[in-house]
Amino acid sequence: MSSSTDPNRVIIFDTTLRDGEQSPGASMNLEEKLRIAELLEEMGADVIEAGFPIASNGDFESVNEVAKLVKESTVCGLARSARGDIERAADALKPAKQSRIHTFISTSPLHMKYKLQMDPDDVYQAVIDSVRYARNFTDDVEWSAEDGSRTEHDFLCRCVEAAINAGATTINIPDTVGYAIPEEFGELIAMLVKRVPNSDKAIYSTHCHNDLGLAVANSLAGVSNGARQIECTINGLGERAGNAALEEIVMSLRTRQDRLPFVTGIDTECITRASKLVSTITGFTVQPNKAIVGANAFAHESGIHQDGMLKHAQTYEIMTPESVGLTKSTLVMGKHSGRHAFRVKLKELGYELGDNALQEAFRRFKDLADKKKEVYDEDLVALVDDEVLRGNDRIKFESLMVVCGSRGPQTAELELDVDGEHCSTKAVGDGPVDATFNAIKALVPHEARLQLYQVNAVTEGTDAQAEATVRLEEDGKSVNGQGADTDTLVASARAYVNALNKLMVKREKTAPGALSA
Ligand code: KIV
Ligand code: ZN
Repeated sequence: MSSSTDPNRVIIFDTTLRDGEQSPGASMNLEEKLRIAELLEEMGADVIEAGFPIASNGDFESVNEVAKLVKESTVCGLARSARGDIERAADALKPAKQSRIHTFISTSPLHMKYKLQMDPDDVYQAVIDSVRYARNFTDDVEWSAEDGSRTEHDFLCRCVEAAINAGATTINIPDTVGYAIPEEFGELIAMLVKRVPNSDKAIYSTHCHNDLGLAVANSLAGVSNGARQIECTINGLGERAGNAALEEIVMSLRTRQDRLPFVTGIDTECITRASKLVSTITGFTVQPNKAIVGANAFAHESGIHQDGMLKHAQTYEIMTPESVGLTKSTLVMGKHSGRHAFRVKLKELGYELGDNALQEAFRRFKDLADKKKEVYDEDLVALVDDEVLRGNDRIKFESLMVVCGSRGPQTAELELDVDGEHCSTKAVGDGPVDATFNAIKALVPHEARLQLYQVNAVTEGTDAQAEATVRLEEDGKSVNGQGADTDTLVASARAYVNALNKLMVKREKTAPGALSA
């Protein structure tokens, strides 16, 4: 997705797959990253930062596979200033149609002294060497001054000028620790644009963390003062309090054209789908009052507001739900719907399944339509996500019978298929969920620790499907499993089994000593 020559065009650089994945517990597997990358490309993200290739073999593979898949967006890989990092990023990016190497080093006194233990002059030289080296592999090189917002202005200006002279085409100024406030951050960008003599040869970029809840405001202040790229993530996912949220940035720019006369290439109608996908995959639920994508973002509860809305929507609505892709739940399919209609509906929802997955999803849809009076789009999304997740699972859920209630003991009778072998057991527990998870442990013994168990209803009503998330942790690595069913315990068992399958794949793939930026 090439950025146009419009001077007010803002490049959207999405780092959900890199900085977003650095959130503790938000790890994603390759297949999940590819699904997110596909949607980011569909929504018009200009740059997709797909990972940090030197960090682990898994990260290398993800950047490499995203580079093969994505055709319109530029695919970016992160690298420290070391040659080995840059070579690894370049290798991973080889298949990309448009690639970018993003190299960074800390420039603040605090980071240089304690983290890098390097003198400013050596950091300055590393900036030049790393950018120059990266330019051997691609013409599109981004340089970041880590902890840029706490860097002395004179030194920052010197480094930026040197990076541009060495060939950097994008200069990113991170507020790494989320310390800046909007006026100050805007002034920082304006100062660089003005003082750095070769500023016109590069695009300034913002990368703001949300520790004080100011990431979006700081990014917008950056743009108002000359930046033309914003680094952000879906749902604001990211280290600690996260990064600037893509959906908030894009909708602010779109809604406040009077004050922010900038354009992006984002198709805002993809926002809700992207938010749901990222939250399902990571198990990070979106708070109901979250701007743009929270469940209540377009809900009007008070009588006065409802009355105003009925008279004229703009009384209380500054943007329409449709503009972010939020359509009212529509009754889509019933038990008499056929396979063809099912396939067409899935395509509308953004899914194209292979024959086997489609057949299985259709079978489960028919079961669901038998159990549930009304089948909504959200039900189909949950069901298909659940089906897509199964892929080549070694452990497959077969059946579950649970006895629960106040008299106890709560018991679970479980049947699984493990590596093609049918197995069953009966277990008791402190409640039906505990009994179910104990049964799974009995059939698949493991030491992984349960870090998170959560259940959400997919739609309203007591017959709604439950969407369960289970996060398991082993040797410091975590995986998220998901499962959906009208029966909460079946959804929970499916989620646990899904997490175990992912853990097995992770064990095979993970090399020791993985890094994060
Ligand atoms: O927050 C930060 O400084 C970063 C850099 C690696 C760009 O993520
Ligand atoms: Zn960051």
